[in-house]
Amino acid sequence: MFSVIENAPLSDPINIPEQKNIIDTIILNNKQRAGATMVILNELQSQVGYISEPMQVYVSKELDVPVSAIHGVVSFYSFFTTKPRGKHTIKFCMGTACYVGGTPQLIEKAKQSLGINPGQTTEDGMITLEVCRCVGACSQAPVVVVDEESHGRVKPNKFPQFIRQCQE
Ligand code: FES
Repeated sequence: MFSVIENAPLSDPINIPEQKNIIDTIILNNKQRAGATMVILNELQSQVGYISEPMQVYVSKELDVPVSAIHGVVSFYSFFTTKPRGKHTIKFCMGTACYVGGTPQLIEKAKQSLGINPGQTTEDGMITLEVCRCVGACSQAPVVVVDEESHGRVKPNKFPQFIRQCQE
């Protein structure tokens, strides 16, 4: 499992000295705390911006936790990403009310407009599409969150406006 670290691309945070320092400091400051895994992953996501596979293996080694457990947490919570996010994020709520209310049609429109699927980032690094769980505004379904701003009762024809907003 350590070969994942040794073979990490040069662009991986594990191979960039300043980022590796941040990673080591986060681990060192939190490894004795209760719930250390979650605290450390949260800090890595916030400070490094994503949690690559080599980073997951490194954390597992440092905490002596199976890498499958780290991977399980990272893939369960949509807050975590394994690749850098774009400058802007457009999230589609996939809770029941939104799903029934039209989220699949909104995602289809987004795919047509940007040529990417949820979980991907445009080539220029500007926009990442994501899906998320219920954001607690079900009466406004379907809900789309552009960066931190929620928009309710979104129609597919509103999508170009979101793109413009992200490109400004
Ligand atoms: S299901 Fe989308 S806000 Fe609740």
